[in-house]
Formats: sequence, structure tokens, C-alpha cells
Amino acid sequence: MTAAAGTDRSTGVIQPTFTGRHWWRDAVIYQVYVRSFLDSTGDGIGDLAGVRAGLPYLRKLGVDGIWLSPFYPSPQHDHGYDVAAYQDVDPLFGDLAEFDLLMSAARRLGIKVLLDIVPNHCSVEHHWFRDALAAAPGSPERARFHFAAGRGPDGAEPPNNWHAMFGGSAWTRVTEPDGTPGEWYLHMFTPEQPDWNWRNPEVPAEFEGVLRFWLDRGVDGFRIDVAAGLYKHPDLPDSDDPDVDARTRDSVNPLAWNQPEVHDVWRHWRTVCDEYAARDGRERLLVGEVSVPTAREHALYVRPDELHQAFFFDLLGAPWDADAFRKVISEAMEDIAGTGSTVTWVLNNHDQVRTVTRYGGPSTEGSGLGAARARAAALLMLALPGAAYIYQGEELGLPEVVDLPDDQITDPIFRRTGSRARIRDGCRVPLPWSGQASPFGFTSGAAGARPWLPQPDYFAEYATDRALADTRSFWHLYRDGLQLRAALPQLGEGVLRWLDRQPGVLAFERGDGLVCAVNFSTAPVPAPVSGTPLLSSGPCPAGVLPGSTAAWWLSDQ
Ligand code: NOJ
Repeated sequence: MTAAAGTDRSTGVIQPTFTGRHWWRDAVIYQVYVRSFLDSTGDGIGDLAGVRAGLPYLRKLGVDGIWLSPFYPSPQHDHGYDVAAYQDVDPLFGDLAEFDLLMSAARRLGIKVLLDIVPNHCSVEHHWFRDALAAAPGSPERARFHFAAGRGPDGAEPPNNWHAMFGGSAWTRVTEPDGTPGEWYLHMFTPEQPDWNWRNPEVPAEFEGVLRFWLDRGVDGFRIDVAAGLYKHPDLPDSDDPDVDARTRDSVNPLAWNQPEVHDVWRHWRTVCDEYAARDGRERLLVGEVSVPTAREHALYVRPDELHQAFFFDLLGAPWDADAFRKVISEAMEDIAGTGSTVTWVLNNHDQVRTVTRYGGPSTEGSGLGAARARAAALLMLALPGAAYIYQGEELGLPEVVDLPDDQITDPIFRRTGSRARIRDGCRVPLPWSGQASPFGFTSGAAGARPWLPQPDYFAEYATDRALADTRSFWHLYRDGLQLRAALPQLGEGVLRWLDRQPGVLAFERGDGLVCAVNFSTAPVPAPVSGTPLLSSGPCPAGVLPGSTAAWWLSDQ
């Protein structure tokens, strides 16, 4: 890599500090939520063979790679983010032989494969946790986790006041092998997800083995769950503010997240990935789920010897407003690009309300304002310098399913808080592939097979076969955007220069003459540039940028 300029605040030109060709720097990765992608066995749950069958569809869409949500053996209390065995496949999703077939098929099609690795916590069914429960307080088995005596009379109060992310105390009391009430163990998510003790050297060593196991099977990298977690304050003291809130971030318990030691883990994992790359020339990618308070702290995770990428969630969190978008984009470019990494943009994932609904309100048709804005946001994201992640169904314009009946909701957040406000099932409803009625080709089972979450009737309009046949569909917008991104040297990584502002409009130039503009208002404005139109998110008469629309041009000037 060679050094180049940083941010020039006087001209508004934002340029990364390093240049050089690394596939991940401007890759577009498609997130496959395996249990909702495509079901090959007819049990109503997507699986690895289903992913393999869907690869040609993804090739046609034009993504560079896929990230697979966890498919490891798991009791599925948090849909696989509670891992019972890190080096195997849950029979629900297939087996290692099927995984190998998926890898070979992906390689043949030129699609890279990232796995989801979950190092902050495991499952209560992990054999080391079972050993810990069977062992005595103070034993080496318990030292792999955070076990501690309770406070108050008879130790009946949790060891500290920390709250779990999914509601309730972050501690659960165990019954000792002799039947008496005993110690407590720490879990920052559900009680079924005990947190690992990363200060115990057995834990990092175990995870290095996990990395190598999958790298030896050919994977191209890892998406790292809760990458600002892992280490806790060594004394586990009470927190001044135990109310954790990952979305607003302001009140995240600083004793449980973002400890300085975590950076050494990412440095070590980077050396492991680099070792494999040095062997065969294939660069492996580490992308972290990093929720920290500021873009500047986020940037620390993507220093040149740490993670290659970390999802920049501020774009996803920004309201539909030109100033808000400009602010988060500028901050990201200034703070992150300067590290030598590129920004990793994301608008949707399996934990968030889908853009069509988020930008438009809870309309289930998805055909109105929310859809127009979601299309515009997609063109904006694909025009920004850096990498982009697309969540399955985003390319179909799927809205959030907002009216799932309570008895069908599976998200542990609902179980633990009783609140529907943050439930995540609505963005995880199985994809529609074809046909007029559920299961819409999702499951190959006999007629009447039921997807694990009910699909609404209106999913018929979003089925992939209809999307492919209709050139006005979301799918074609994404496909065309990806094709242009691959063909035009101005897109991908590189320079962004803000153009003059009109109220409610965001406009910037990429490289030499490629202009992207987004009209956040609902009224048309004059096009901010004259030139050759390349692509727009909606009908775009010459010289005009209609409301809730984005467009790309090659400028004449
Ligand atoms: C973040 C994942 O995206 C989410 O789905 C999961 O519940 C938590 N981490 C806990 O693993």
C-alpha cells in the first residue's frame, strides 16, 4: 500500500490515507440469514444446501461474497448466536460435508464466503460450560467463564448491578452439584449465552483453533459478533449506568464493553489471517460488529494491524434527513478512512427494522414513500467509498413484517422484556422465491410445509421470480448499481467530494465526474449537475431530481 492524502477540510475532498488493491476494501457482501434463505429439506427452516442452491441467484445479482449467519450446533435460544460447538454444523442446517460442497460451489462462482464467529459468549450446552457447572467454585473449569459469589444474605443477590442487553440482570445463579444454591455466572445477552472469560489463556487458544479449523476448510474470513465485547473490567465492579442500550450507545455499560485488551485479540487474529494469505495469496477478511460511542473509537478497531473492517452502523441509525446523512458520512470518512481501512456501510441486517419500513412508517405494502426512500438510500450506499453489506431481502425491497402474532415471535428480546418495540423477527421472515401463496418456494417440502415464521400474503409481490422479470424492481436497481460499481473506476474506494448544497439534497462527486445526488425532500429540485444519467432510483426527467429519489450521472463539467 502507498500513502496518499488525508482529509482536506478546505475543499471538502475526503480521501483515504492508503491506496492499494485489496478485494475487501470495496467489496459488496450479501448477508445470508441461513434459516430464512432457502429450505432444501422441507422442514420450514433454511439450510446450507438451500444456500448452495441460491448461489447462482446471488451471482446474477453481482455480489462479491456472502456472510453466513451462525449454523453451528446450537439449542437456538438466540438463533445460533448461542453456540454449543464451534467446529461443526447443526443437523438443522446440514453437516460438514454439505458445508464443503457449499464452499466449492461458491469458489466456482467466484463468491467469497465469510462465517459468523461468536467469541463473546457460547451456549449453556457448550461442553466447557457443562464441565463448569459440574465442577466446584474456584475450579479451572469455572475459570473459563465469569463465575462469582453473590452478594447479600446467602449470596442471593447478583455479584454486581450489570444489566443484560436482552433484559434483566446479566447474572444467573446456578445450583451446585450438591443441590445447594451456588455461584452466579455472567451473560451479557440471555442466560443461555454465558460470557467467556478472555483473561483465561485457554479461551484465546481455543478460538485460535476455531479460526484455523474454518480457514483450513477454505473460508475467506469472518464476521465477528460483538467485537467490542469479550473483555470485562477485571474486578467486575458495579456500573454507574447499568442500563445498556446498544442502539443509542450513549448508555452502554463501559465496564462490560470496549476494554483496551480486546484490541490485542484482533491484532492476533489479523496475524493468523495474514499467515494464511501469505501461504496462498488469498487475503482473508475480518469484519467486526463494533458498537462503540463514536466514529473515532470505532476507527481504533480498524487500525492497519487490527480488523480489516467494522460495520459503520451510524448510517443505519440516521433518520431520513440530508443533514443527518451528511454528518455521519463525513464523520466516517474523516475518522475511519484515515486509518487505512475503508468504511463498511450497512443499511439493513438481521437485527434491524428493514429500510422500507424504517423510512416510511409501518406500511406493509412497501410501495409508497418508504420504498422510494429505501431505493434512494441503496443508490447512495453503493456510491459511497468503501465496502457495503446487503441483507437478504433488501434487494427485493421487502418491508418489515410488523404484525406477527405474539405466539409466533421467537426473539428472546420479546421473551425477556415482553416488549414488541425491538423485536427482530419482522426482518427475519423467510424469503419469497416464487408463487402466489406461502411458502412462496422457500421450502421444498410437501404442500402445506410451514416456514418457521409465517409469511404474509403480500410477500407474493416480492418473490424473486417476479423481481427478476420486472425491470422496475428493487432487484434490478441493486443489480444495475452493482454492475456499474464494478465497471466504473470512480466507484468503490477512493475520493468523495461534497458538491454545493441545496436544502434537503445531498450531492457528491466520486473520482472524476461521477455525481450522486439524493433528494431527501418530497418535492422535485433541479438536478445538481448536467451530464449523462447513469442510474436513478425512480423516474427522473432530464434536469430534475424528483423527491425521495437518488441518481447517478457522469458530469459534463
Ligand atoms: C449481535 C447479533 O447480530 C445478534 O443477532 C445477536 O443476538 C447478538 N449479537 C448476540 O450474539
